Amino acid sequence: MVEFDTVYDRRNTNCSKWDSIKETYGEDDLLPLWIADMDFKANPPVLKALKDTAEQGILGYSPAPDSLYDAIQHWQKRHHDYSVSKEAILFNSGVVPSLSLAIQAYTKPGDAILIHDPVYPPFAKVVEQNDRKLVRSQLLTEQGHFVMDLTEMEKQIVAENIRLFILCNPHNPGGRVWTKSELEAFGKLCAKYDVLVISDEIHQDLIFAPHVFTTFSNVHPTFKDFSITLTAATKTFNLAGIKNSMIFIENPDLRKKFVAAQERNFQNEINIFGYVGTEAAYQNGDRWLSELLVYLKENIETVNDFLQAELPTVKMMRPEGTYLIWLDFSAYGLTDAQLQKQLIHIGKVVLNPGISFGPKGTQHMRLNVACPKETLFEGLRRIKASFE
Ligand SMILES: Cc1ncc(COP(=O)(O)O)c(C=O)c1O
Repeated sequence: MVEFDTVYDRRNTNCSKWDSIKETYGEDDLLPLWIADMDFKANPPVLKALKDTAEQGILGYSPAPDSLYDAIQHWQKRHHDYSVSKEAILFNSGVVPSLSLAIQAYTKPGDAILIHDPVYPPFAKVVEQNDRKLVRSQLLTEQGHFVMDLTEMEKQIVAENIRLFILCNPHNPGGRVWTKSELEAFGKLCAKYDVLVISDEIHQDLIFAPHVFTTFSNVHPTFKDFSITLTAATKTFNLAGIKNSMIFIENPDLRKKFVAAQERNFQNEINIFGYVGTEAAYQNGDRWLSELLVYLKENIETVNDFLQAELPTVKMMRPEGTYLIWLDFSAYGLTDAQLQKQLIHIGKVVLNPGISFGPKGTQHMRLNVACPKETLFEGLRRIKASFE
């Protein structure tokens, strides 16, 4: 059994989650349940592989080995029934840097790019910082979870001449695992108007049964012609600091354009620990991941039970995947600034403000439950105390 209950003191380890708090909020007794990394140690075989690499002692330039491609292909086939070809696999230091490259590769300044609202905040930033026009399509809430508004999206695609859509699959912050039929309808809409799809699938392995993850480009044989997939082992296995991610591009023309953007930006070489950690994670990770999912699911149920019993004013969106929970505080009638102030200065707990995910995130917060139960209970106690 993997040990997820141990509480590690991450303070003074130079980690963003714990060590940036004092500088950001001026207080250092806050409990961080925000940024998407986990308070769990990585899988021992991954740590051993990283250590063995360091012990080689000479860490020169290092291309991606064939064994890494094999590990990725087997993982994708085994876990997602996706047969990605070797030539389709490219590497980069992260999914967000790859989003930026994709925007540069496939659009020009001023082009309109569509994203959902709410969605992972760097989607908007990367569009705007590349001088493209940002258009947001609000997700609808139906039966307690997000659904896409394809009618509205079609209008926006036409009115704004949308060239590219950045999809979050599964969805952060809502934890939606888009179904194959939802993706099919969405993909058909994009195909109809020649809209390219960048599918960010970094949360693809964090799925709770009976939900099933579907790779966008695998939904229909034609979908890989107009889409690229961004993913990584770093979210699944808590390795964000090794900075490694993959880009899968089956369409040779799209791949050529992406590689040209990588070369223009000198972003085609990755650090050796990224390769090594990714390969070791995919080769040895099945059992660790299945136990992680059990633990995360228990944590999600813990939040659900706590809110129902202790804080029924706060409504949670039950995630189908990811370790993130979208919490609705709107019944308190607070502004976003007031809500944040109460959580930080009264409850002393740090969540991600919903408003940073887009206008639809107003009066919401995103809670990260990838932590030991003891930490989670303390976090929930503090959230409750924020409103007493
Ligand atoms: C949807 C999504 N994409 C990308 C990232 C970050 O990816 P990377 O660290 O590889 O840039 C995150 C991190 O939380 C995420 O939630």
